Amino acid sequence: MSLIATPLSVRNSVLKTRLVMAPMATGRANEDGLVTRNLCDYYHRRAKAGGLGAIIVEHAFIHPQGRLAPNQLSIATDDCIEGLSQLVGSIHEPFGGTLAICQLTHAGSNALPADLSNGLVAPSACIHPGHKRSGNTGLVPHALTSHEIHELTDCFCEAAQRAEAAGFDGVELHAAHGYLLDQFYSPLTNHRDDEYGPQSIENRTRFLCETIQRVRESVGEIFLIAVRFGPCDYAPNGAVLEDGPQAAVLLEQAGADIIDVSGGMFNFSAHELRPPGFFRESSTAIHAAIHIPVLTAGGVHLPQEAEWLLQTGATDLVGIGRLLMRQPDWAAKAISSLCQVGVL
Ligand SMILES: Cc1cc2nc3c(=O)[nH]c(=O)nc-3n(C[C@H](O)[C@H](O)[C@H](O)COP(=O)(O)O)c2cc1C
Repeated sequence: MSLIATPLSVRNSVLKTRLVMAPMATGRANEDGLVTRNLCDYYHRRAKAGGLGAIIVEHAFIHPQGRLAPNQLSIATDDCIEGLSQLVGSIHEPFGGTLAICQLTHAGSNALPADLSNGLVAPSACIHPGHKRSGNTGLVPHALTSHEIHELTDCFCEAAQRAEAAGFDGVELHAAHGYLLDQFYSPLTNHRDDEYGPQSIENRTRFLCETIQRVRESVGEIFLIAVRFGPCDYAPNGAVLEDGPQAAVLLEQAGADIIDVSGGMFNFSAHELRPPGFFRESSTAIHAAIHIPVLTAGGVHLPQEAEWLLQTGATDLVGIGRLLMRQPDWAAKAISSLCQVGVL
């Protein structure tokens, strides 16, 4: 019995297939971060081609100080809602059934805000360890006070409410790839000595768990909350794979509906990771520890590889990134090719 085209129920929604378009920055928003026709057309093409249970729209910044790049999508103010609702329309209409999820992010010490006069923020006053590679400012950030952490939790909630007002089916909190929520999780960037510090997994996930809980209270019952989580930094003294399952249990208890397992501090791949499913070791361990669905992306090239990840218990949903950038109809073709060879 194959799984790739088997629907999956999550909360009150149904993903019609197990293939999900992974969030990928396109830089197609305008200079204020507002949705453009070009951005809508890009997502429309992929939704129209079919085969996808959900599309996770690229990272949208929740606060101007957390912007990562020029022309990044914004969800930081109410004037973004109108364009975002057109974007949702380009995914929902008239294909029915592909869920639209918006990724919410704050880049923390990795940010490149349009206005640098307020500096950068992070868990601790240390330069981002990946700054040479990412080309960010390399500035020493301001260590957030707990009051400022609570204010940013409010910003995530307001962004989630904007996503809901625009018609999205859910949001994905970006807590991977070295951005702010991941900077709290990673011992490489978190040197605090308060309840948000690195002393325990509860403390490392506290900001993220509080954000999940507050977002849950701020949106409707059926609205989905996914978390893109980077359990492992693949670096000396960084976050380790073994802590991932315990952390994921805390995210589930806080109210997450899907855990999207990806990479930690240094991006979405690592030299030692082999496809398909760069993070399948982490995702398999997390899958065994929690009761909500797991999603993972990375290095899937063939439909059979996606099916293999599902069949071997590595994940419930397979994220597809660069293939869909190059080939908008990849998911539809993947599903029909498995049908033709009689796998489905
Ligand atoms: C151009 C590009 C932009 C990306 N933007 C994002 C992003 O906005 N948010 C995110 O969580 N991951 C982002 N990623 C990572 C992808 O979601 C995905 O995890 C990665 O590409 C691995 O999957 P793949 O091998 O199928 O491409 C990006 C990747 C690429 C190549």
